[in-house]
Parts: sequence; structure tokens; C-alpha cells
Amino acid sequence: MIKIDFNKLPQHIAIIMDGNGRWAKQHAIGRIRGHKKGAQAVRTTVKTCREIGIKYLTLYAFSIENWERPAKEVEALMSLLDEYLTKETKQLQKQGIRLTTIGEINRLHPSVKEKLLQAKESTINNDKMVLNIALSYGGKDEIIRAVKKIIQDNKDGKININEINKETFSNYLYTSGMPDPDLLIRTSGEYRISNFLLWQMAYTELYFTNVLWPDFTKDDLFKAIASYQKRERRFGLTSEQLKEKDY
Ligand code: FPP
Repeated sequence: MIKIDFNKLPQHIAIIMDGNGRWAKQHAIGRIRGHKKGAQAVRTTVKTCREIGIKYLTLYAFSIENWERPAKEVEALMSLLDEYLTKETKQLQKQGIRLTTIGEINRLHPSVKEKLLQAKESTINNDKMVLNIALSYGGKDEIIRAVKKIIQDNKDGKININEINKETFSNYLYTSGMPDPDLLIRTSGEYRISNFLLWQMAYTELYFTNVLWPDFTKDDLFKAIASYQKRERRFGLTSEQLKEKDY
């Protein structure tokens, strides 16, 4: 078992869960079964993060670009999500986990949307961890949406141009009120951000692993956290300045 320092945990972990299709190919089964196995890895990862005390976990489950996949696959992903919500909402409740989403959830199938809204509503007071699922999400789209809202608010006299800064801008994003991710994990050996949390990842530590998402275990999560804990986060400062700040 990999050792991690429980006093130095990342507050917010974001994950690009990649490789379900390749996992299925390796096992000579259909892509949809790969996603099913991926949903299992979601369950264990959520449980582990909750157990060790991670405060925010953001999972990239469906990008805006994913709408372009074959209709059958989109359909299967929607019904997997539907199934996950049906089965897991009680568990989330039990574990004190609050469910939130980022992305255009109005584009989701009505039954999925309905279940999501219910799950979000029923877990709203849970404070042990936030499970934030990115659905129909795109980072550039999120930024454009924020800009449009600011322009509208400016027209309506709610915000002055001089008041637009990094903090107020962040409040116009889906992630308003959430800390930025400390650690991003991407599985399956791809070294890309893929339109995920573009604004929020300005200072996030990036961790890439060759493990395919359906194979991602507690041990793999611990490896990512251990790697994060070895890094020095300088936020543009020097090492010496950081040491002075500590004391
Ligand atoms: C990437 O693998 C994965 C996705 C596009 C979907 C992620 C969905 C899940 C893990 C399951 C459902 C989620 C929840 C929250 C219950 P890929 O298909 O791009 O793999 P490939 O690159 O190997 O083809």
C-alpha cells in the first residue's frame, strides 16, 4: 500500500476518467461494457475520497464534445448515469456527500435531469464531501457563458467594469464558491486537458497515469496523492519566499 500524508491532502481532486473504450477493446468486449466497468471505478473512487477526507471531487463524466459520439454510446452513457443516480443517491446521503454538477444539464435526457435535480436537492445539506460531476461540460463554453452573464449584469447595472477581476469572474463560472482543484488526475496515458476546467486549473498540479480508468484502484489514487505531496507549489513565487510565508 502506498503511504500518503493525511495531514497534507489535496482539498480538491479533479479526474479525467479516460480509457473506458480501450479497456473494453483489451478485453474484447463492447465499449459500453467498458463504461459500465468505469462506473464501478467511480463508486470506489468516491468512497475512498470520502473515507480519507477529500473535500471536493470533480469527475469529468461527459463533455460537450461527447454529444458527437455514436447515438448508441450517448444513450448508454445517459442510462448509466441514470442507473448510478438511482442506486447511489441513498449511499451519498448515508456518507454525507453533497452532489453538485457543472455543465449544461438542460441538454441531458429529461429523466436523467430530473433525477439529478432530486439528488442535488436531497443532498444539499451534506457537508462531508462535495461530489461534483461534469456533465455536458466544456471549459471554453463555461468561460463564454460567464462573459455573456457579466455583460448582461453590466447592462442591468449589477456589475461595474471596474469590479471585474479574478474573484468576481470566478463567481460567474459553474464552480462558483468551490476552491480550484489542487490535483488533476488523467488516466489512460493521454497528456491533455481536453477542455476541462480551463480557468480553474491555472495552478493545479497535473498527474498522468497509464492506467485505464476501469482499472483505477485505491492504490492508484494514493499514488497520485503521494506524487502531489512531493511537489512544491510555488504559485509563481520562489522557494525562499514560500519558506518565509510558512513562518
Ligand atoms: C472516457 O473513456 C470516458 C467517458 C467519455 C465517460 C466516462 C463515464 C464513466 C466513467 C461512467 C459513468 C459515470 C458516472 C458518474 C456514473 P473513452 O470512452 O474516451 O475511452 P477511450 O479513449 O479508450 O475510447
